[in-house]
Amino acid sequence: MKVKTILLGAAVASGLFAASVSAQTIGFSQVGSEGDWRPAFSADMQSTAEEMGIELKFANAQGRQEDQLRAVRAFIAQQVDAIIIAPVVVTGWDQVLQEAKDAGIPVFLADRDVEVDDPSLFVTRISADFNLEGRLAAAWLAAESRGGCNIVELQGTVGSAPAIERNSGFMAVIDQFPAMEIVATQSGEFTTEGGKRVMEAFIKSTDNLDGICAVFAHNDNMQLGAIQAMKEAGLNPGQDVLMISVDYVPAIITAIEAGEANASVELRSAIGQFIYPVVLEYLANPTELEKWIVIPSDLHTAH
Ligand code: AHR
Repeated sequence: MKVKTILLGAAVASGLFAASVSAQTIGFSQVGSEGDWRPAFSADMQSTAEEMGIELKFANAQGRQEDQLRAVRAFIAQQVDAIIIAPVVVTGWDQVLQEAKDAGIPVFLADRDVEVDDPSLFVTRISADFNLEGRLAAAWLAAESRGGCNIVELQGTVGSAPAIERNSGFMAVIDQFPAMEIVATQSGEFTTEGGKRVMEAFIKSTDNLDGICAVFAHNDNMQLGAIQAMKEAGLNPGQDVLMISVDYVPAIITAIEAGEANASVELRSAIGQFIYPVVLEYLANPTELEKWIVIPSDLHTAH
C-alpha cells in the first residue's frame, strides 16, 4: 500500500516555493501529445518552469516508451539536476532509473506511475489518485442508474497507470451492484479518434443498443469520439445513454452543457505549481519523502 499525502494546496506550494534555490536544470520526459489534457499539462509545465527560473529540458515521447528511455539517458548524460518522468506505461523502468540513481540524479514521477522492484529508484510521485477517479465515476453512475446498468467501457492506453487504476476503482464499486456490469471494454488509446473507432465497432457488432445504459470513458477525448459515433448512429448520448468520463477538459464541459455528456471527474492539468516546489525543496534539502503526493480530483456534473 503506497502511503500518500493529500496535497494541502497553495499553502504547501508557496511554502516550498519560498525555499526554491538558484536556477536548476530539470529534464522532463513527457508521455506525448494525446488528447486535450496532455498538451495542457505540458504547456503548464513549460510556463511554470519559466516563471520559476528553472531551465527545463522538455522531451515529448509521442507515446513511445523507447523514446522516453532515450530521453532519460540523454538527461543523465547532460548531468541535469533532477529528472521528472510522466511514464507512458508502468513497466520497463527499473534499468534506466537505476542508471539515474547511479549517476546521483534524483527522479520524480508526475501524473502517471511505475511498477519497480526498488521504490528507492524514485523520490516521490506527484499525481492524482486514478483509482479514486474510477470510484467517483462508478458511484455517480450507480446513483444515476439506481444500481442497474449495462456499461460500455473505453479504456485508456493498455498498461498505463490511469487505465489500470481507473478500471480497478470503477470495478471495486460496481462489483457492489449485481445489476451493474461492463458488457464491452476496449482501449481507445486516450484519443478522440480511438474512442470513435471503438464505439463505431461496438455499435456495428451489437444487436441490442437499447440495452446500453452508460459509457464510462477513461478520458474525455475518447468520450467525445464516442459521442460522435453515437450521434451518427442516431443515438442520444447524454439523454438515452449516461456518459461519464475523466479529465474535465473544456470540450467535455461544452458537451455537458449541450446535454450530450453527463459528468466528468476533473484531472487537474495546472500542476507544475505543485511539482516543481517539491523537486526544488528536495534539491535544497534531500530528505525522505512520502512516495506519493496526491492532487485531489473532483466530480463535475451538469447540475
Ligand atoms: O495520465 C493521465 C491521462 O493521460 C489523462 O486522463 C488522459 O487524457 C491522458 O492521455
